[in-house]
Amino acid sequence: MANNAPAPTPMATRPSALLDRVLVLEMVRVTEAAAISASRLIGRGDEKAADAAAVEAMRAALNELDMDGTVVIGEGERDEAPMLYIGEKVGSAQGTGPKIDIALDPLEGTTITAKAGPNALAVLAIAEEGNLLNAPDVYMDKLAVGPGYPAGVIDLDRTVGENVAAVAAAKGVEPNELIVCVLDRPRHGALIAELRAIGCGIALIPDGDVAGVIATTDESTGIDLYMGSGGAPEGVLAAAALRCVGGQFKGRLLFRNEDEKARARKWGIADLNRQYDLTELAKGDCIFAATGVTDGSLLKGVKRLKGGTMTTESVVMRASSGTVRWVRGEHRKPR
Ligand code: FBP
Repeated sequence: MANNAPAPTPMATRPSALLDRVLVLEMVRVTEAAAISASRLIGRGDEKAADAAAVEAMRAALNELDMDGTVVIGEGERDEAPMLYIGEKVGSAQGTGPKIDIALDPLEGTTITAKAGPNALAVLAIAEEGNLLNAPDVYMDKLAVGPGYPAGVIDLDRTVGENVAAVAAAKGVEPNELIVCVLDRPRHGALIAELRAIGCGIALIPDGDVAGVIATTDESTGIDLYMGSGGAPEGVLAAAALRCVGGQFKGRLLFRNEDEKARARKWGIADLNRQYDLTELAKGDCIFAATGVTDGSLLKGVKRLKGGTMTTESVVMRASSGTVRWVRGEHRKPR
């Protein structure tokens, strides 16, 4: 994606003056803070500690920003998460600053971080109030393809074979030449068997489907499609990223019990079976930012150099302009 950044998805997206006021690059300072903090726990086998470190640092950085922010996708509901819970107000200008909705995952890939695996990220997306789907923490069926395909080439109402055939035809290759990224989970056994029967290559990832979805937008990864279920919050974050760099994303909430359905209704979701397009998950202008915690297909992870300097790699993207900025940070010890 770095060298051949695709055109953003064509749509009428006006630049938001409100988002201008929340400096785009300030978002990177927030994800950098979370990534640096979590990086101290890389390979330490403690998922909870890594997540807590990222959450605390992200919250402190968000609270320095001159905005009236509300977490709409966060660490869980108020009674389950002490910090960055859904509905928590963040920012130093409550009642006076721009009203911004925030979807965040301070550490996307807690297990990856604990095991020093690839593709752990600190991630957030912001939009004007009301523009991000308030997705409950349930599963979401996800289907994504990179930019340059005709609108509607993927659809969750079609079979796996039909989607693979449509993407292959649009790419001008045989279905068995496609590479599909899938989370390595027992629940994906049937999906994996279908893809194997077609002859597709399958990139099985242990965790981290935000990076998996974004990988479809970068031809150098070789990944054509993303398929399978993962967290709904991660689905909204991935959709926000695709809004900025192009590509198509479809998502449908999956409910395991009545309690999960009740949670969705509580957040105002009436049609529980709806197939969401990326423009419904993240509307209007939005900004997506991520910093690598561990090395991955999108970003390099935090590195600690001699003398205490740390390096970070981040990306920040904006839907209205399609601008993608790659930011390499060198964080020195104060002298
Ligand atoms: P965490 O960072 O919360 O551990 O999430 C990692 C992740 O792999 C996500 O990328 C993905 O959406 C979700 O977990 C999948 O959930 P599950 O592990 O239950 O299959």
